[in-house]
Amino acid sequence: MSTYIQREDRGAVSVVRICREKQLNALNLALMDELVATLEACDADDSIRAIVLTGGEKAFAAGADIAEMADQTAIGMKKLGQFRVWDRIRGITKPLIAAVTGYALGGGCELAMTCDLIIAGQSARFGQPEVKLGVMPGAGGTQWLTRAVGKARALELLWTGDPVTADEAYRLGLVNRVVPDARCLEEAVALAQRIAERPPVAVQMIKEAVYQALDTTLQDGMEAERNLFYLLFATEDQREGMRAFMEKRPPEFKGR
Ligand code: CAA
Repeated sequence: MSTYIQREDRGAVSVVRICREKQLNALNLALMDELVATLEACDADDSIRAIVLTGGEKAFAAGADIAEMADQTAIGMKKLGQFRVWDRIRGITKPLIAAVTGYALGGGCELAMTCDLIIAGQSARFGQPEVKLGVMPGAGGTQWLTRAVGKARALELLWTGDPVTADEAYRLGLVNRVVPDARCLEEAVALAQRIAERPPVAVQMIKEAVYQALDTTLQDGMEAERNLFYLLFATEDQREGMRAFMEKRPPEFKGR
C-alpha cells in the first residue's frame, strides 16, 4: 500500500503518479522510497514496456522536502543516504517519461531530468532554486542541466535559482515538447505506447547506449554500441522484425 504513489496500468504502459498535493508533491524520504519501489515493480513486470511519471496539476514536485532537511547536519545528511534511491531510478531499464504540469523545482526538476524524456504542459515551471536556500542541487541538477542545456545556461539557472517557463525549457532543449496542460498526460502516454510497440530488448539497449554516450569517450561508446547491436541478434524480435519487413507485414514483438 502506497501513501504517496498511485500506479495505473494502461495496456503496456504504467502511469505512476505522485500524490502529495497539499505539499506540492515535496519529495520526502518516505515518498521517494515508495516511488522507487513502484518504478522497480513496473520495471520487473513483463507486461509493462514503458512508464510515465506524473504529478498533480499545480506541481509535478516542488523539490526535496525542506522541512525534513532544515535542521540536518552534514554528517546527518550523509548518513541518511537520501540519494541512493535516485541511483536506483537511474537503474530503471524501461523508457521513463515525465509528464510535467506546474512546478518542477529543485528535486522535482531533477526527478524530471532523471526521466528519459519530458513532456511539459504549458503551466510547467522548471528550476533549481536550491541556491536561494543556501545550498545547491544534490540529486543530479548540476550534471543533468549542464548536459541538457550547456554550461552557460546551466550556470545561469543554477546561480539565479529562477525558474523557466515550459516554452523556455523547450527552447533550451530541456523538454521534448510543450502541450496544453489538459493533454500533457495523454501525450506522454501516447508516446509511451508508441515506444511500447517497438521490440523491448532493443528499446532497453538503446537506452543503455545513449546513457553510455553521456559517460564515456566516443571510441568506447562506439564499441559499447556495437556489442549491444550484436547482442540483439540473439533475440527472437530481431528475426521477427526483419522477417516481417521482408514479408511485408507488421511485426509482432515478444520482448525476447
Ligand atoms: N518542501 C516542503 N514543503 C514544501 C515544499 C518543499 N520543497 N514546497 C512547497 N511546500 C509546502 C509549503 O510549505 C506549503 O505547506 P503549508 O500549506 O503546510 O504551509 C505548501 O507546500 C504549499 O506551498 P506554498 O504555500 O509555498 O505555495 P505557493 O503557491 O505560494 O508557492 C512555490 C509555490 C513557489 C513552489 C513554493 O512552495 C516554493 O518555493 N517551494 C520550495 C521550492 C524549493 O525551494 N525547492 C527546492 C527544495 S531543495 C531540493 O530540492 C534539494 C535537492 O536537490 C534534492
